[in-house]
Amino acid sequence: MGLLEGKVAIVTGAGRGVGRAEAMAMAKAGAKIVVNDLGGDRDGTGAHAPVADAVVGEIEAAGGRAVADHSDVGSLEGVDRMVWTALNRFGRLDIMVHNAGILRDKTLLNMTEDDWDLVQKVHAKGTFFCTRAAGRAMKTQGDGGVIMNTTSLTGLVGNFGQSNYSFAKSGVYGFTKTAALELGRYGIRVHAICPNAYTRMTADLPALKGVTEEMLDPATLAALVVFLASDLAKELNGRVLLAHGGTIGAMVTEFKMKMFDGYIKKAGAPTTKEIAENIDKVLFSDPDLDMMACLKFN
Ligand code: NAI
Repeated sequence: MGLLEGKVAIVTGAGRGVGRAEAMAMAKAGAKIVVNDLGGDRDGTGAHAPVADAVVGEIEAAGGRAVADHSDVGSLEGVDRMVWTALNRFGRLDIMVHNAGILRDKTLLNMTEDDWDLVQKVHAKGTFFCTRAAGRAMKTQGDGGVIMNTTSLTGLVGNFGQSNYSFAKSGVYGFTKTAALELGRYGIRVHAICPNAYTRMTADLPALKGVTEEMLDPATLAALVVFLASDLAKELNGRVLLAHGGTIGAMVTEFKMKMFDGYIKKAGAPTTKEIAENIDKVLFSDPDLDMMACLKFN
């Protein structure tokens, strides 16, 4: 019996890349899947229904059960429809993976309002809509559930040319911590996962020059998602986990914001002079941790 037997999952953006791998792996583990994908271009324009339909076909061909949904994750009606599709077609909802994503990279000074808004719509509003709609359905159901949103190293440590995307993806970090506290009361676990995989989104990044899909396989994320969605992880809530793997080797780790001892003064406010004199204590840098090192493959 599969780890997710009897469970029903929605995966947004499941027509390609990381989402497709997550949907295929959860179906293999026994879950029935709503394969959501608008099927647009990387910059968020356009729509193409066969992108989601093809993954439904792949899951069914492998003996699993799935239904397509072509809603936009940035639309309230669309996300409600997606959740209703799960309830109407499969009778319940246990797992929501909000993975859909777009990019509109530009340096900050050249960023347009449209570039900013569309990225917030898919990544930030989509996270809110998907979590709220799934959380409401799971609360009504009464036996918990698992919600996973998708963050990025760009949101956690920054990246040149991605101010719109880093704003949205860093929001997923704080959102996860808050949603885990609020929904944990109903047995609903909320996590964020941080992929690092060769996909349409990343294939032309300078950091991935020379990297192939085999080297940085989206399936690594899929294994983590199956674990978090399963009862093996029922004690975990509010975690932000990074994963990558493939022929280059694999890494699965937790991302945590840390606060250091810094400069401590027993009483009274620090003066500017004291801050200046103690700036080495204030700006603690952890010599063991180079966050971007996991992006350097060549
Ligand atoms: P991808 O471009 O291969 O797939 C994203 C899918 O989302 C596409 O099929 C697209 O049609 C769909 N989509 C876009 N906007 C949508 C909308 N409004 N409604 C429904 N579907 C929509 O990208 P990839 O790499 O698989 O990315 C998946 C997620 O992982 C994204 O949230 C991305 O930001 C995140 N991520 C990926 C990394 C990587 O290394 N591939 C690194 C960090 C984060």
